[in-house]
Amino acid sequence: MTIAECSANSANDDNRDLSSDSLNVLQLSDSHLFADPEGQLLGMQTLASLRRVIKDANETLPPIDLALVTGDLVHDASPAGYSLLKKELLHLNTPTYCLPGNHDDPEILKRSISGSPIGTPFSIQKKSWSIILLDSNLPGSTKGHLNDEQLSNLQQTLSHFPNHHTLIWLHHHTMPVKSKWLDTMILKNADDFFAITDQHPQIKGIICGHIHQAFEEKHKNALLLGSPSTCFQFKPNSTDFGIDNKAPGYRQLTLLPNGAIITKVVHLKHFSNSIDLSSSGY
Ligand SMILES: [Fe+2]
Repeated sequence: MTIAECSANSANDDNRDLSSDSLNVLQLSDSHLFADPEGQLLGMQTLASLRRVIKDANETLPPIDLALVTGDLVHDASPAGYSLLKKELLHLNTPTYCLPGNHDDPEILKRSISGSPIGTPFSIQKKSWSIILLDSNLPGSTKGHLNDEQLSNLQQTLSHFPNHHTLIWLHHHTMPVKSKWLDTMILKNADDFFAITDQHPQIKGIICGHIHQAFEEKHKNALLLGSPSTCFQFKPNSTDFGIDNKAPGYRQLTLLPNGAIITKVVHLKHFSNSIDLSSSGY
């Protein structure tokens, strides 16, 4: 398999000579923190879980060039929860960018992290890559929606950087993941989104959080990737709400100068799950 044909979840532990022009990217998602540092969801302390994930990434990954945190950052959308998040993300010691999910409050997020090295930009350009972060938060709903401003910014950024390989990051999934209950909470106006992105072949990846599980599909030139949560995981291919026994995890991506992506999902080893697997919701 060539690098260009390499699919998601292909381990990058072979001996490819990766260029120094590559970017090493870490994706964290769905940390679901609370104002209370000992706050729990389904019996799991979400802050402790995020700490273990960050420690594992720091100890096992090659130096990280940037980190993306793809929503459901704070379960109760509290300023104190975002302060805890900020403090933990600083341990990555790398440029780190956040976008909101359905559990977040985008304004409180921005206020809480302002003045810190952690950002909520719309886009960044680094080496040969353009990184676009979308806000799909729809207040009062678990579904996702991109408003006119988001769609317009997306169109403009794609048109402005046609020669940059591009990754688009957003919380909600844009295509069904074959879990009936999760697919009711998809990006509602995915047609509007794809009407824009399908015109821009420089898009190499569209990457979401929200689904709390690894996912891989292909659409046009782009990999559609979903990623595990830093706390609990949802059961794949499930009709109803279901919790998986998989440990907390993250995604690593290596972005090559030629536009290829090498990526893998990592779940913590030696993690004893304390979550309630029989739960029917949260
Ligand atoms: Fe979530």
